[in-house]
Amino acid sequence: MTQSTKFSTTRSEISGHAIKDLAERFGTPCYFYDAQTICDRIEQLRQFDVIRFAQKANSNLAVLDLVRRNGVVVDAVSSGEVFRAQKAGFDYTGTPSPIVYTADIFDREALDLVVENGLHVNVGSPDMIEQYGQRVPSGEITLRINPGFGHGHSAKTNTGGDSSKHGIWHEELDECLQLAAKYQVTVTGLHMHIGSGTDFEHLSQVCEAMKTTALKVGSTIRVISAGGGLPTPYRDSDVGLDVDRYYQLWDKTRKELEAEFGHAISLEIEPGRFLVAESGFLLTEIRAVKKMGKNLFYLVDAGFNNLARPILYGAYHPMSIAFSGGGSEETQPVIVGGPLCESGDIFTQEEGGFVCSRELPVAAVGDYLVIECAGAYGYVMSSNYNSKPFAAEVLLDGDSAHLIRRRQTPEDLVLGESIPAS
Ligand SMILES: Cc1ncc(COP(=O)(O)O)c(C=O)c1O
Repeated sequence: MTQSTKFSTTRSEISGHAIKDLAERFGTPCYFYDAQTICDRIEQLRQFDVIRFAQKANSNLAVLDLVRRNGVVVDAVSSGEVFRAQKAGFDYTGTPSPIVYTADIFDREALDLVVENGLHVNVGSPDMIEQYGQRVPSGEITLRINPGFGHGHSAKTNTGGDSSKHGIWHEELDECLQLAAKYQVTVTGLHMHIGSGTDFEHLSQVCEAMKTTALKVGSTIRVISAGGGLPTPYRDSDVGLDVDRYYQLWDKTRKELEAEFGHAISLEIEPGRFLVAESGFLLTEIRAVKKMGKNLFYLVDAGFNNLARPILYGAYHPMSIAFSGGGSEETQPVIVGGPLCESGDIFTQEEGGFVCSRELPVAAVGDYLVIECAGAYGYVMSSNYNSKPFAAEVLLDGDSAHLIRRRQTPEDLVLGESIPAS
């Protein structure tokens, strides 16, 4: 099977910077993020009262700082993400909450951090209410509700329904309200992250479920969150988001609740991928071009240790070639793989691990292969598998290229390890 391609299959620059210069200056593999693209995506969502960046998609401090300077607040799913947000200049408390801790459990460290710093919490299990109530009686919380149905680009990303571990099951709402009342904890927010993508019929059902839930909770509700799941066009055939329509459905729900409760309700959106995916490029160098029977492989110096989405979900990323020298107009079907000692280390694969080819320009060792739309769930899912160092990350901002994370060294790979004295 040959995958269709998006964009031109050659490119010589990223955001106005010559690829050859970037590779020589920062080395490969290296992630590049275009600051302007992130700012443009933020502007697209300005109608929402609050844009809360799901930093799990890309939590580099420079990216967090950029979104903060553009009026965006953050979601944190671990104490590590809270730490990052605080390092990037977010306060712990304020209106809207600058950092919201969203999870299905409190590990002990996260619970201490939340309690000590007065963080707002979006709880995803009855046990979290119990543990929070014991430590913060009379506190305020948001409930993440699983309305009993879901959506997602793969079974692994579906966040609703009874096979999902996320959120509070809709039928458990009464018990949860009683549990909150036991500690005089007030439910001030409701959150549903179901990932409707561009399916507006599905989104209407989510809005309806939000309204029903809010009416059951009552007028203590002051914030509703539409969660994330806004789509990114990775393939030619992918349709971009109709932001106005998305907003209108949620705004209608919000207004209906305002009419019922007689006070203002703040409408939040919580995108991860939408804000950063298209800003990101993973620059790699082709290190081998080899034939295996009828197939031709380009083997590059990045693997699933750098970008795991293809092996995890069969995710498609557009790719292009940048020539280090001359170059050719001709294209050929190729399979693109990485350096890892693992046969699944293939960037051109479909869900289920089926290897595909991609029509790409005829290229040679030393040319560059750019994996595009890689700014979300890219670097953050990196590992040191095969003792490969983490790549560098660079923020491109107009004419400037800032190194925002240095490449790991061999010493970094063994940091914290020790050999027992014999
Ligand atoms: C609670 C929550 N909010 C927001 C997001 C962001 O999702 P996306 O990157 O698809 O917008 C996620 C992703 O898993 C999530 O779990």
